[in-house]
Amino acid sequence: MYYSDDVVEEVRSRNDIVDVISGYVKLQRKGSSYFGLCPFHNEKSPSFSVSPSKQMYYCFGCGAGGNVFTFLMEYENYTFPEALKTLADRAGVALPETDDSAEARRQRDRKSEVLKVNKLAARFYYYQLRAPQGAKAMEYLKGRQLSDETMQKFGLGYASQYSDVLYKYLKQQKVSEELMRESGLFNYSERQGMYDKFWNRVIFPIMDANGRVIGFGGRVMGDGKPKYLNSPETIVFDKSRNLYGLHVARSARKKYMLVCEGYMDVISMHQAGFTNAVASLGTALTSQHALLLKRYTDEVILTYDSDEAGVRAALRAIPLLREAGVATKVLHMDPYKDPDEFIKARGQEAFQERIDQAENSFLFEISILQKSYDMKDPTSKTRFHQAAAAKIAEFEQELERENYIEAVADRFQISFEGLRRMVMNQLMQGVSVPKAVTAARREQRPEKEDGLRRSERLLLTWLVEYPKLFPLVEAFLRPEDFSDEMYCQVASMLYEQLRSGELNPGKIAGAFSEQEEQRKVAQIFNTELAVTGKAEQAKAVRETIGKLVNRVMERKAKEMTAAELTTQERLAAQMEMVEAKKRLEKLKTVHISL
Ligand code: GTP
Ligand code: MN
Repeated sequence: MYYSDDVVEEVRSRNDIVDVISGYVKLQRKGSSYFGLCPFHNEKSPSFSVSPSKQMYYCFGCGAGGNVFTFLMEYENYTFPEALKTLADRAGVALPETDDSAEARRQRDRKSEVLKVNKLAARFYYYQLRAPQGAKAMEYLKGRQLSDETMQKFGLGYASQYSDVLYKYLKQQKVSEELMRESGLFNYSERQGMYDKFWNRVIFPIMDANGRVIGFGGRVMGDGKPKYLNSPETIVFDKSRNLYGLHVARSARKKYMLVCEGYMDVISMHQAGFTNAVASLGTALTSQHALLLKRYTDEVILTYDSDEAGVRAALRAIPLLREAGVATKVLHMDPYKDPDEFIKARGQEAFQERIDQAENSFLFEISILQKSYDMKDPTSKTRFHQAAAAKIAEFEQELERENYIEAVADRFQISFEGLRRMVMNQLMQGVSVPKAVTAARREQRPEKEDGLRRSERLLLTWLVEYPKLFPLVEAFLRPEDFSDEMYCQVASMLYEQLRSGELNPGKIAGAFSEQEEQRKVAQIFNTELAVTGKAEQAKAVRETIGKLVNRVMERKAKEMTAAELTTQERLAAQMEMVEAKKRLEKLKTVHISL
């Protein structure tokens, strides 16, 4: 971090979160908060809340949340310094020269220097492909049926069979060795010193959404290994935030985007007129990719390879896209391996047909699920129906559930009424779903309600909303009594603030550097309990504290019997246990008012 906490806090406090978010989302006041349609997932009724008193936002639907910085980082895909800069400008806060010039400016300069080197390299490779020494590479690419126009559009190039030509060229262009190292374009060995990373390969420059060259992929011409070599991540190349082909696809003006796995697939599709194709490079699709896609489109068609790895990749991508509010379909490529092969064999119209027939991603998930059951065996078959019902039960909206019950019943020949009853049962029991199918999804969601954690969150939310409760809570629970490490940290900071009379939850979120953590803080401070009336609330507070103190006792009891404890430690645990018991007794009689 290049700015002091004071500066960050100054910028944050001068940018009211309601004002800032109002510029992006239509908000309406409801009680002490504002509500609107969540920009991070698809929804029809508002569950996105912005709290002026907490200076935080939180979506009750998808769990997105954080402070005003988090919002810009998520919405605009900004880095933290970018969000800070934007908000500082907005509020007319001058970022201190010292901080800026020293580290941040150096960082910016380094970025643009590396981009310059990349551009030089891309031009060099481009030229090499078209020179006599590039004949073999040209032949290879022509053999893969790429037109001159396509090769030009994607800036394809060639790295010759010698491993020092780029090095020599950049030297001649007065590029420093340090910068070369930072570009990721070179390797180093004792014997050879620095030498080109890419040699004897065709080169695919990787561009960001604005067409700047951020990295490279290189393919052997034929069957060598490794088939592809990719630039490592550098200061300008973040694989989880960039998609190959996006600089063209972003302006393709189609209703959907095609997402595939490889460079050649993107290029083939573009050449066949599907200029809305992109690929995640060398990595699985990430939630950042999904959010990036959401900025340009509401619908994605996955055109992953038809092999097992492709299916697995699709199963991982679907929940991420769903969470980002992107409707997803899956295109079936069989009997061909990938879009490139399909288009070569069957042509553009046939591919368009497959696009039109692409399968709804949920039905795709269910059909994969079905494969792990023996449909000839009645017990196994019933289990499949139950698993499908459990998955349908995850949809929050009733109408959506109904629609999927209908679709699944129809497609998998299950009785509609029977399936519907199963879904109802699932909803009543809150029974969860087979792990494999939902693991990825769960990662992205507000944590499944573990009762204890929820109680802890409730209590922390109450402390923010009714600071008057603090002396009472403090008397019964210490920050370290909370069960999750992060909750302990949040509690500790919150206690500190309440003690000094400077309640400021947005600042607590700011103390965590990861977006995921900030989201969690927002979740902690936005836990709701459906009780009204002060008496009922007081009762809930008492019960919640009781539950948590009880848990502390249980933990101590366990500790007391743990074999590896010294006598001293065991005694200490015992004392704490007795002490907690006393607290529990006291809780019964203490007066609670909100
Ligand atoms: P072609 O064989 O040229 O048609 O490639 P493809 O696009 O069909 O590639 P494939 O499906 O085998 O792989 C998809 C993507 O994964 C590629 O575009 C690369 O980004 C990446 N990839 C494939 N093979 C390798 C490898 O050996 N090493 C690395 N690092 N990445 C690879
Ligand atoms: Mn291929």
